[in-house]
Order: sequence, then structure tokens, then C-alpha cells
Amino acid sequence: MREGQSKVILRADYQPPAYWIDTVELAFDLDPGKTRVLNRMKVRRNPDVTAQPLRLDGEELNLARVLVNGQGTSFKLEDSQLVLENLPEGHEPFDLEIFTTCAPAKNTKLMGLYVSNDSFFTQCEAEGFRRITYFLDRPDVMASYTVTLRADKARYPVLLSNGNLVEQGALEDGRHFAKWVDPFRKPSYLFALVAGQLVCREQRIAARNGKEHLLQVYVRPGDLDKTEHAMNSLMASVAWDEARFKLPLDLERFMIVATSDFNMGAMENKGLNIFNTKYVLANQATATDTDYSNIESVVGHEYFHNWTGNRVTCRDWFQLSLKEGLTVFRDQEFSQDLAGADSARAVKRIEDVRVLRTAQFPEDAGPMAHPVRPDQYLEINNFYTVTVYEKGAEVVRMMQTLVGREGFAKGMSLYFERHDGHAVTCDDFVQAIADANPESPLAQKLDQFKRWYSQAGTPRLKAAGHFDPVSGIYSLALSQSCAPTPGQAEKLPFVIPIALGLLDANGNELTTGMHVLTDATETLTFPGLTAAPVPSLLRGFSAPVVLDYLYTDTELLTLLAHDADPFNRWEAGQRLATQRALGHIRNESVAPADIRLDHAFIEAMRVILRSDKLDAAFKELVLTLPAETYIAEQLDVVDPQRIHAVREAMREQLAQALFSDWAWAFEAHSENGAYSPDAVSSGRRALAGLALTHLCLAARSSGDSVWPGKALQRFKDASNMTDRFNALAALVTSGHALAAQALQRFHAMFKDEALVLDKWFALQAGAPDRGGNILPVVKQLMNHADFTLRNPNRARSVIFSYCSGNPGAFHRADAAGYVYWSDRVIELDTVNPQVAARLARALDRWKKLAEPLRGAAREAIARVAAKPDLSNDVREVVSRALA
Ligand code: ARG
Ligand code: ZN
Repeated sequence: MREGQSKVILRADYQPPAYWIDTVELAFDLDPGKTRVLNRMKVRRNPDVTAQPLRLDGEELNLARVLVNGQGTSFKLEDSQLVLENLPEGHEPFDLEIFTTCAPAKNTKLMGLYVSNDSFFTQCEAEGFRRITYFLDRPDVMASYTVTLRADKARYPVLLSNGNLVEQGALEDGRHFAKWVDPFRKPSYLFALVAGQLVCREQRIAARNGKEHLLQVYVRPGDLDKTEHAMNSLMASVAWDEARFKLPLDLERFMIVATSDFNMGAMENKGLNIFNTKYVLANQATATDTDYSNIESVVGHEYFHNWTGNRVTCRDWFQLSLKEGLTVFRDQEFSQDLAGADSARAVKRIEDVRVLRTAQFPEDAGPMAHPVRPDQYLEINNFYTVTVYEKGAEVVRMMQTLVGREGFAKGMSLYFERHDGHAVTCDDFVQAIADANPESPLAQKLDQFKRWYSQAGTPRLKAAGHFDPVSGIYSLALSQSCAPTPGQAEKLPFVIPIALGLLDANGNELTTGMHVLTDATETLTFPGLTAAPVPSLLRGFSAPVVLDYLYTDTELLTLLAHDADPFNRWEAGQRLATQRALGHIRNESVAPADIRLDHAFIEAMRVILRSDKLDAAFKELVLTLPAETYIAEQLDVVDPQRIHAVREAMREQLAQALFSDWAWAFEAHSENGAYSPDAVSSGRRALAGLALTHLCLAARSSGDSVWPGKALQRFKDASNMTDRFNALAALVTSGHALAAQALQRFHAMFKDEALVLDKWFALQAGAPDRGGNILPVVKQLMNHADFTLRNPNRARSVIFSYCSGNPGAFHRADAAGYVYWSDRVIELDTVNPQVAARLARALDRWKKLAEPLRGAAREAIARVAAKPDLSNDVREVVSRALA
């Protein structure tokens, strides 16, 4: 039976709580089958709200006892709420004691208190605390927590909760206890406990003011040798927040704990961050460079939440981007600052924009489109989205652009001065940044700027240039528009900061500047020119918009070769590639195998690859063709198999045409020195990996087996996971016969490394489809002894890698991919609705599909929707898809 509300929650309905909870004393008797929770609160009526019953949220709890001021009291249970009507009058605090039990071992949703590898973990954001005890489970109710944990000592030697350990000791029957006090008030979503057999890496650090802090990273015994990078990232995060924003660590003890069963990436519980192992564990033998850099940014992200999220939190869940958009912005800046050189910063920026455009732009154009600050939800877990996170970060970035870096830092200080210790709104944040910078364009266009929070959809920025040789004036006509999104037919103009430069035909910079577009249309003029310039628009991706400018190949080749802005250099290369891909996709009279890339494009790519001025990491980004999902977004009607075939054909052409250049790139960037995950070394490995893939692809058509042989050798000899995995991937993606033995060997080598096995599964489920072979492979993988649907990482590695990560294989003409998808959504929904709802989104863009795929996809979604008893999570996604 489903519990919980099943009605839409509206932002406009926000009401302050009718009661406050000032203190909470929790006592846990931890037992996997039946955990007992004693919750003693000091509660008082909110004097600003008319008197009404107290309604506490609770889900899947067994209620044993309710006492008010030590006395039994009458209560009702209504729709997963505990309703208390006969409470003391007046505004004095009263004691409320609630005793419940729950069953952590049966908790497969991984929300609330659950068991993973015989240890206890919690996940409370957004609404998991109500699965632990009855509470006002909303972020604007902030309380002081004291937590006592009791458990069997041999089985659960480590007992952790938020704040400081104030007492611990032995109990009878081999049990022991630990008592924790959190010195900071917090909303319930930041509560956490951990109990189990864990070991930790420790580090003592001294802050600028001389105060000592203890940093700890807890993992399962055996994983300690994979914690150094996480600890280094944590120390770097502490130092960075002090240096960049003057925000110190406010706790004596800061803990990170890793668990292999986790719905998302990580969670910023006060002083006790809980992480998916994927974002903690790394050593050179098991983790790739990408893993290292993800760990750095996620550790940073959760640590930065300590101020942006925890010290100042959200008034309600519609304000989620207040903490998430801002904290993603902060972790992006952190990673850029750590990357060092300008070129390495640009690489990070390009990677971030690539995520935004391949994942968020489609979301903004699909049935789940919502504003950065949504107006409604059925299930809040569905709104932990790329829009709230990544687009939210872009909105914060635009603020920094509009007020300057120093102005932004001043705005942040004002934000904390005003709101420290409070639960506030996105408006409060923007207001603080604007008030600290009254002369800025942000302050002057404040209300209009806030449309970035209220209007969904990706704006389109149209630009058209005209040069008048007589007057020497170049005019640039700009216009903006935004397509309707669900519930928002009309959009008003946005504030769009446009960083731009003009180049002459030889690529020399003529002028550079920043224009803030606020009207629907505007024309900029640049006098004193002798010839038509090449415009470099939206430098650094200064706003999250689609730029429509009809660039000629000549202009793009100039930008690719010369633009002073590395982002736009990369962008020019992507445009050249996209235009070619789209042309071939639309021209159905030519079979993909017969596609020929033009000389100019190939030579431009060769020049980049061979350049002695560019970094390897940047070259790798330029030489990677736009993703299939990105190309799909540029089309009105999508045939994913054709997109895949065309993109693959383009890759094979680049492989052959640049064969000797790839061979040079591979040799020149392969080294056997000591491993270091820094930006320069990882860039070199990335380029070597891309080269190897192309060399194996070229071998595909030539039948030559020299390079596949070399790839196998490298796979065997590699001294780190990046090189090893890249070699394996080169064999698998080129479909070479040697792939099978390499895969087998890889599994044997890493059979005890769950995160590496995830890569092994994902690589196979995401491999290029050749004659419909992938779906059977995926089904086989699900029968593998190492597969389990219960572990989200493993489920994602097979099912998501296929349904979301492999469009060419998933969108089968016989619709078997869709049937598989609907079976998995339904199956997962009974285990873990959050994970199921993510999978449900794989068909978000079904309306764009060419027939008969479109009809088949609709049918599959309708099949899921017709299932009675769906979770709110999945129901919301499929009903919006069908609307
Ligand atoms: N606040 C966490 C983060 O951004 C994400 C938690 C999401 N949890 C969830 N159940 N939706 O790092
Ligand atoms: Zn976050």
C-alpha cells in the first residue's frame, strides 16, 4: 500500500508552520529488523499563526506511544500524518514524546534509515526524516539535536551522528552507546546517523584563526587505501572557501562516510556528509581521471553546502536552487581555481557547458520543463534536476558576471550577514547580491533578472550582422525569444549578458566587450571598421541560451583557429561538426557508410590535433564530436539510429583521414611516469585515449589488427585505470574481436571492486549497436551473478547506460527497447521509486521521435501509466510525458 500525500503541492500555498520545534532528543536502539526510536521534543505554538492542531509527518512508522508533558493524549492518524488536537493552550513550550519503530532492513527506497552492507545509514533530504520519526518535516523548522545511538558493539563498533561526540560507553549484553550534540540548529533534512563496521582516515588541520579541526573519511575496512584523494579534496575545499569567500569551517569535527547503496551522489548532513562510494573511493588502479575530478567536485560541493544550504537553508523545497544552484556554482569555481592555468579553467568550463546543453536543454524543452524555482510538484524528489542544479548555477554565474567577481563576494557577505541561521528564498539571495552592488546592471534590472527563476525554457538569442562599407559601421541585430513550456505559454524578455568580441578576417581581435541585452530586440553598432568582422558571441557561454547566428564555414574556421576566447574556439569546432552531422542526417539519399567529410573540416581538425600551442585536454574536447543527444536537440524529428550511424561514420572518417596524426598523438601522449590526476596529465591521457579509439576504429574498416593488438597490450600493461579502461573501451567501441577476452580479463581482475564492475557493466550496455546485439547483451548482463537491481549504482550501470546512454541501441525499430524500459520502470518502482522515476525520464523526448518510434514510445509510457499503485515519483513523470 502506498502512503503519503498524492496531491500536487503549490509554491503559492506556502504557509509558515503552526508550531516550532526548538529541541529534539533522539534515542535509537538500532536493530536491522526493528529499530526503536524515542523522540522527545520541545514544541511551542507559532504566535504568528492562528491556533490549529499539530500535524506531524510520518511514513511507514509503527507508532507505540505519544505523551504530552509526560501524559498520554488523544491523537489521530490521517494520511500519514499524526494529528494532535488537545495540546496545551498558550505559547509556552511543551514536551512531546513519541515512540515509534521502523524496519531499516526492509527499506529498499534508501530514504530514511536503511541498512547497507550490515551498516546503518540515513538519507533525509528531502522528506526522509518522516520515515524515522514523526516530525514537522519541512526545512523552515530548525531545531537543536541531541542524539543517542545504542547498538551491538561487535557488529556496529562505530556510532556517528551530527555535531560533537559528548559521551560514549558500554551497555549490558554487548551493546554500547554514543551521544552526539549538534551545536547548530538545523532542519530535519540535515539529520544523519551512521552505525557499522567502518574505518577512517583522519587529518587534523589548523584554520586561519588557529582553531583545530578534525577531518575524517569513513569507509569499509579494505577501502582505506582509496581515501587519500577524498581527504585531499576536503582539505582543499576548506582552504578554498576561506580564501575565496572568507567562509571558515564552523565545526570541530567534519566527517565524510561512504556507502555503496545511495540514491544520489552525496548528502551535506551537518558535519556528517554521507556519500555514494563512487564519489569517495579512488586509487590509480581502480579510478579514472574522471572519477578523480568528480570526487574533487562532489567533496567540494557537499562541503560548500555547510554555508550555502546549512547555515542558510531553504524556506521550502521550491527554493531548492537557493542552495543547489549556488553550491554547484561554487563547486564549479572551486574546480576551476584548482585547475590553475587559464586553459585548464576553460576546459572545465567547456565540460560544464557540455553537461548543461546535453542534459538541461532537453529537459527545458520537454514535458518535465520547470523553472529554476518550480511552482509545483507532486514528488519533490523529481525536482533534483539539471535545471535546479546546473541551470541554477548558470543563473548565479550571470549574477557574478553582472556585478563582477569582487561585487559578488561582497554580495555573498551581505547574504550571510542578513540570513545566517535562517531559512530563506531565492529572492532573498538575489536581493542581497543586488543590494551589495546598487550601481550594477543586476540591481538596475532586478525584477527582470528574476525571470530566470520564474520562467522555464531555454531562451533563443538570434544575432545577425551587417557591415556597411561606406560608413564603416558594423551592426549586430539581436533578438531574444523563448518557446512555451508546460503551463507557461508566454515568456517575457530575459536579462542576457553577452560577452563578445569582433575579429578581423585574419583572426586579430578588433574589439571586445560585454553587452547586457534586456529588450526583445536591440541593435548594436560598431563604427570605424574597414571590413566585415567575424563576431565571437556569448564568450565563455556568458548566458544559458541557444545562440542562433548563421555562421559561414569561413567564419567558424577563423574562430576555431584564432579566437582569444577558448570556449568559443571549441564552440566553433562543435558548430562545424554539428552542421555537417545535421546535413548528413537530413540527406537521407546518402547511406551513412558513404558520407564524406570535406577537406576543410578535416584539415582544421588536423591543425588543432597537431598544434604545439594547445593543451592536450583542449584538443580532446575539440576532436570529440557533439553527443548524439545534443545533435538530436537540433532536429525537429529524430531518428536516433540515423544520428548514431552518421556520427559513427564521421568518427570513422576522422579516424582514417587523420590516421598518422592519431598515431602520433597516441605515442606522444603516452607515458609511464608516476600517476597524478592533475589537469595536464589527465588531459594527456584523455587525448591518448581518444587517439587509441580512433586508431581502433580505423582498423575496423581496414581490417588491420596492429592497433587493436596494441590496445590489448596497453590494456594489459596499463599502470592506472584511466589508460586501462580507455584501452578496453577502444576495443569494445570499435567492436573488435579482441574485446571479448579483454572484458573477461577485466572482470577477473576487478571482481571484488564494485565500482570497477559498474564500469564493466556500463561499457557493455553502452556499446555501439551492431545489428541489434546490445539489448540481448543487456538482458544477459542482468542475469549475471554480479547484477542486482537493489543497488542503485549497479542498476544504473546496466539499465540507464542502455536506456539513457545508448540512444542508437535503445530506439530499436521493433520497439523491444521500449518494452524493456517499461518493464524495468515498473519493476524498479516497487523497489526504489526515486531510481525508477529517473529511469522513467529516458523517454522524455518521445514526441520528437520519428514514426513508428513515436507511437511505440507512447504506448510504452501509457503501459507504465496504466499500472495501478505507481509511486508519486513515477506517476508524475509519466503523466507529464503523456500530457
Ligand atoms: N543535497 C544533495 C546534494 O546536492 C542531494 C540530495 C538529494 N536527495 C534526494 N533524495 N533527492 O548534494
Ligand atoms: Zn547539493
